[in-house]
This record gives sequence, structure tokens and C-alpha cells, in this order.
Amino acid sequence: MKRFARAGACLCLALLFAIAWVAAPAAPTASAASAATAAPGHAAIASAHPLATAAGLEILRNGGNAFDAAVAVSAALAVVEPTGSGLTGGGLYLLHRQSDGFETAIDAREFAPAAASRDMFLDAKGEPVPRLSTDSALAAGIPGEPAGMALLAAKYGKVPVARSLAPAIRLAREGFPLSARVHESLERRLAQFAGDPDVARNFLRDGAVPPVGTIIRQPELAATLEYLAQHGLDSFYHGKLAAQLVAGVRAQGGIWTEADLAAYRALERKPIVGQYRGARVVSVPPPSSGGIALIEALNILAQFDLSGVTPVQRKQLVIEAMRRVHRDRALYLGDPDFIDVPVSRLTSVDYAAGLAASIRLDRATPSASLPGIGAGAAAGPQTTHFSVLDGDGNRVAATITLNFFFGSGRMIAGTGLFLNNEMDDFSMKPGVPNGFGLVGADANAIAPHKRMLSSVTPVFVDAGSRVLIGGSPGGSRIIGMSLLATLAFLDGQSAAEIVAAPRFHQQYIPDAVQYEAGAFTDDEARALAGQGDLLEPAAYRWGNFQAVTWDRATGKVEAASDPRGEGGGAVE
Ligand code: GLY
Repeated sequence: MKRFARAGACLCLALLFAIAWVAAPAAPTASAASAATAAPGHAAIASAHPLATAAGLEILRNGGNAFDAAVAVSAALAVVEPTGSGLTGGGLYLLHRQSDGFETAIDAREFAPAAASRDMFLDAKGEPVPRLSTDSALAAGIPGEPAGMALLAAKYGKVPVARSLAPAIRLAREGFPLSARVHESLERRLAQFAGDPDVARNFLRDGAVPPVGTIIRQPELAATLEYLAQHGLDSFYHGKLAAQLVAGVRAQGGIWTEADLAAYRALERKPIVGQYRGARVVSVPPPSSGGIALIEALNILAQFDLSGVTPVQRKQLVIEAMRRVHRDRALYLGDPDFIDVPVSRLTSVDYAAGLAASIRLDRATPSASLPGIGAGAAAGPQTTHFSVLDGDGNRVAATITLNFFFGSGRMIAGTGLFLNNEMDDFSMKPGVPNGFGLVGADANAIAPHKRMLSSVTPVFVDAGSRVLIGGSPGGSRIIGMSLLATLAFLDGQSAAEIVAAPRFHQQYIPDAVQYEAGAFTDDEARALAGQGDLLEPAAYRWGNFQAVTWDRATGKVEAASDPRGEGGGAVE
């Protein structure tokens, strides 16, 4: 029996899915000895769309494991949530294999084309050309998602890729009901999309966004997926499809070559691992900043007795940890194949102790007083995340992205694929903020075939008796969301509580604390402001956290999708 936990905007999909809080029936209590290795017996998936969650469950039922399900969910999200991710995007997949405890991170992050150069987004005076790194065909990195899915399936999966792609092909061919969220995103870009025959053919009716619930069919995307199912996911990078992709990008002024596509490889990297309050916390390494920043923040917080401080002091400590790790992100992080990333130092407890020493409980640290760089702005809710646990205990936490909503908003003619605008995640000039207000330095400068720095922070937390698989989209706010979720989980919160909790965020620059309604009580807000925090109430709620939890002691498995989105969590 399938049960779904879902919150957020109501969809016509409600008829397809029973929407209720989930908890798998508790298994008999395991002994302490067997609890560590026991399999959950139940599978769970949380993703940004109920149909993507259903696609993953279908594969689990049809012989696949969590890694096959991750391929199926990635492909389905590309169809039903084209705002957040797609085959022409990239991301990082965090994997845990239960049989031997092996953990790895699949780096499917895009890289810069060979013709890319350090100053390609600057004008003759050395100033950034507005929107060149976000809206033009130059904004697109060489995609990593198909290579990542191929690696997942070939090395860790059990079933043929064609089987895992089948639900996505069906959804693209037969259509899915337009959701409120995708509708709103289409409306926002209507002026651009109405002038693009490829987008208009797939998503508009008579030049307008059709009503919520309209069945959206994407025959060109279906054909692309069918081609990949037939020829293998690696055929994205060679031959007929690669030639079509390159021609389509170059026709719009882009610089991709077939050699760029042929040179792309998804890589396996060692995850970043830390210990906090007795729990093992695992996340992704560079080229994402997420894992290092998360562990560094937890190491800073470990210098304090959080149970011995007031609630407002605890929030101040989290704010100060966020401030410091984002400063380090800006200064030190980039593609580890191009620069020396000081991973050991940044994740060491001694280093964190040094950072913690400058934190005061009664006064915010001005960001400008920390050695660093630049100016900044705000962030948006793009990208997507899903979490998978299979009945054997294998786990995937994956955050995949096109960068902005629909990437650059440009389609590659005849393929049904949107171009990512991930090149904006590079630092185009030291100290100049990107679309998320994040600043960077030389470490993240553009270079041919270099991977742009990401913020994705998929996370596993293993607290002995309980396990969390989680992550969220949200641009620069992603790191803070995984930090807050880890703390909430270790405080005993359920999956549903973790995804729903109000959030706050500090990213070093701008020197402000953004917060959702309910994140601070009035008294807390007064106290934080009184000690120097510039508080900015958020105009909207951010993130779309997808959490799966497994309680080894009771056997209870939960899956919950963020009420800010329209996703679905399911256990069966
Ligand atoms: N494109 C957003 C990120 O990877 O951080």
C-alpha cells in the first residue's frame, strides 16, 4: 500500500495519489546489535513532484534499487518539473550502498566549453555585461546529468536504463497536468517564451500560458528520451544527438563543440564526512561548496554547548556559523581538478575552533570585519532535490539543476531540452555577485573544461538509531537549509517537521539575515536586531526540501516533501 506525504499547492494529481502523512508500519523492535545493519524493509522517495516520486517507486517495484530509482526520478523531473532540472543540466548525487556501507558522490556538474575564457562575460572596460552569463547561449555549460545517470545505472544499478527511462518517456509523450508552480514560472517568462517557437509549441497555447491542469505533452523531449533509452545515455555525448545539440546551441550564439561533449565525464569523488553530536554527517565535495560548508558550520557549532544557551543565542550562533562558512566559500572553493581546495583545513575541528573564537553571543559580527571580498544580493528557489531509500537500505540524495528556472529559458531546437545557465555560477570577476548574490574569487574563475562552483548540499545524517536523507534547491540558501535540517533532525524532529520548519539565512554578503515568517519570535527578532543583525523579512518562503527518515530501532520510515512546493513523499 502506497501512502503519500505531501503539502503545498493543490494539484489535480490529488486524485492520483492518496495525500496523507506517512509512516510505514513499525517493524518489531530490532536488537541494538542488528539495528546498525538491518534493512528498512520499506522504500521511500521524496521529490519535487508526485509523478517523479511515482516514477522512482515504479522502478523499485520492477526490480530496480535506489540507484535505478534515482535515474528514473531524474528523468521524470526533467519532464514534469522543467523549471528545476533537465538532461541539459547537471548536479551531484550522493550514494550510500547498504551491503558494505560504501559511499560515493557522483559529480555530474557541468563544465565550461573549451572556448570559454576567464573574462568572457566582461566588456572592454572589464565590467560584467548584463545578463550575458544568465540569458545568452554562452551561459550554458556542457551538461553532466546524462553522464551522471549513466554512471549511476551502469555501476550501481540493477536494471537496464531503458526501463528506468520508461516512466519519463510516458510522461513526456502522454503528458502531465500543468501544475501551479510551473504555470507561475511560465507566466514569469512569458514575454521570452512567446517569441520562441520551440518553447511555445511545448508549453503555450495561442501564445498564452494554459490554465493549471492542462495536459502538457512534450513529443520532442519524448523522442530525445526514447533515443537515449535505445542508444544509451552516453549517446547524448556522441553522434547524431550530440551534433544536433551543438548545432542548436551555436545557432543561438553559443560556443559548444562536439569535442566538448565527447570530453565530458561524470566523476566519482570522495564525500565530505564529519561528526556532530555523535552523528555521522555526509555530503558532497567540491565542485560543490555544500559539503565543506556544512561540516565547517557544524564544527563551529560544536564549539558551543547549544543546550546551555538561550533559543535566541542558539540562532545567533547558527547565523554566525553561516556567515563564516560563506566567507570561506567565496575565498577558497572551486573545481578541485583546477585549484587546491584546502579540504582538510576547512573541515578540521581546530580550524573551526579558531573561527568560533571570534563569535560573540551578544553581538553580531559585521561581515566586513572578516577578511574577504565583495558585495552581494538575494537568491531564488531554482534547482531540484530528491531523496531515495530502498528496502535494502541503499540511499541516494541528489540535487540537480539547470541553475535558474528553465535555465537560460532557451531551447535547443527540436530536442525539447532547455539550455542551462550554469556558467553564472562561476565568479566572472572577483567580488562581483552572481545571480544568487554569491561572490567568488580566483578559485572559481572561468577556465576551459573547469566545473563551476555549486552550493548543492545533499546530505546523509546517521545518528545511530535514526537516518536522514535530505536536501533542497534554493541557490545560495541551500547550505543553510541543509544545516538547519541537520540540526532539526538531531533535535528529534520528524521528516514532516524538518521540511516545514521556518528558515533563516546568512551568506556573509550581503550582511543581512533573511528570514521566513515564524523563524524568529518577535522577542527573538528584537534581540537579534539589538545586537547588530540586519534582519530582512523574506518576501517569499524559499526552498523545497525533500526528506526521508528511517528509524532503525522502530523500523519506521517517513518521507516528506516541503510544503512550500508541490512535491510528494511516499513510503511503500
Ligand atoms: N546552480 C546552483 C548551484 O549549483 O549551486
